Amino acid sequence: MIYTQAKWEREDENLYEPLLSEKDGKEVEVDSSLPDELTRDSLELPDLSEPELARHYTRLSQMNYGIDSGPYPLGSCTMKYNPKFTEDVAALPSASVHPDRSEGSVQGTLELLHGLQDYLARIGGMDAVSLQPPAGAAGEFTGILVAKAFHEANGEGERRTEIIVPDSAHGTNPASAALGGYDVVELPSAEDGRVEVDALEAAVGERTALFMLTNPNTLGLFERDIERIAEIVHDAGGLLYYDGANLNALLGRARPGDMGFDIMHYNVHKTFATPHGGGGPGAGPVGVAEKLAEFLPAPRVRKTNGTYERFDPERTIGKVHGFAGNWFVLVKAYAYIARLGDEGLSDASAKAVLNANYLASQIEYDVPHEPFHHEFVASAGDQDAADVAKRMLDYGVHPPTTKWPEIVSEALMTEPTEIENRETLDHLAEAFNAVAAEDDETLEAAPERTTARRIDQASAARNLRLSWRALSE
Ligand SMILES: Cc1ncc(COP(=O)(O)O)c(C=O)c1O
Repeated sequence: MIYTQAKWEREDENLYEPLLSEKDGKEVEVDSSLPDELTRDSLELPDLSEPELARHYTRLSQMNYGIDSGPYPLGSCTMKYNPKFTEDVAALPSASVHPDRSEGSVQGTLELLHGLQDYLARIGGMDAVSLQPPAGAAGEFTGILVAKAFHEANGEGERRTEIIVPDSAHGTNPASAALGGYDVVELPSAEDGRVEVDALEAAVGERTALFMLTNPNTLGLFERDIERIAEIVHDAGGLLYYDGANLNALLGRARPGDMGFDIMHYNVHKTFATPHGGGGPGAGPVGVAEKLAEFLPAPRVRKTNGTYERFDPERTIGKVHGFAGNWFVLVKAYAYIARLGDEGLSDASAKAVLNANYLASQIEYDVPHEPFHHEFVASAGDQDAADVAKRMLDYGVHPPTTKWPEIVSEALMTEPTEIENRETLDHLAEAFNAVAAEDDETLEAAPERTTARRIDQASAARNLRLSWRALSE
């Protein structure tokens, strides 16, 4: 398949669809009850018909790549398809209630929140859930604050100053630990990519507050020694944290709570088909074992004598977000879980694992660590993984996550998710294999068929220009 992204070019050298503010405008009179000094008399606004507006946004979308354009096998940072029916549910008029309304008038809203707390607790094997954190990373930070409150309540706050994190962990794990005021102890992985139990035993001690672990880990490998790991951490008085980014590998089969985890976050945008934080807003609920429930953020929702009510856990760490969290995202997660049910969720998980294994079996890049679950990390070998990623765009597919985890050289971390069919997986494999056979010159010149050619990513990240005015200046 030859893929070419749309180009809406102007006659001059600039390649872009004009901004709405650059189109012909008209002066609109401002009629406001605000004080005069706060208003202007008139305002120039673009003068556009509905089709012009629709075309503008359609063109912009054609110059971009998204999950609605093609597969998006971005390992760990998973972009699952967000089913449109969940948008319909979130758009129901009854979903748009002001969060400050009296409890008696929002029983349906509270019932949904209560139902989602329950669903997530059951799925994760946790005893209590807070829906407030607005992303996975925010969930980590919340979980760390809860752990801190627990240790402080036991008189061990000052002594437990360390959080242990494997070297394969997502960057947000050590970042959240540091933000929580802890010293981060990095644990090197064993040769097979899993936790080295002896190394953990040596690292854990009376200073350990928490050990953060992803299971399956970022290589897609299940930590087979998880029960021993939990024992080691608990025997030292520490807590075990589950990074839920990879929960979709386990749904309906195994539960973090049963493995001995005390705290977890759920990346609902990875597991329950909701928007990701950056494109969202997102959500990152936190579940805990009974002994930690009293420290969860406030408010939570409970049912008392047939009535739903908000309540503050006894020794709550306070709020980590306004009201219940990002409500519309929570509505979508609830709708997705309710629609799929127990069977649908475990089927989604089985297909996620099957798809990853099928795709890996079809590509020519080496996959050093097996057997993996819902994602795998291939090595680009002598090629530069970042160049491979850029070139894959020319084949009409989004690239995998690259250069992480660092324990695989030139890593291509790939997660096709359960939503792709065999034809799409074959297309993905063809793209991988075509790129694997190409020379460095071709790779370095890529992408050629996208609207924007290769951008300077480091400058884009370091010199943020987030407004048109800043860019023009
Ligand atoms: C393993 C892992 N942990 C945590 C996170 C953080 O989640 P979020 O992006 O929702 O903040 C990610 C993000 O992709 C992840 O892959």
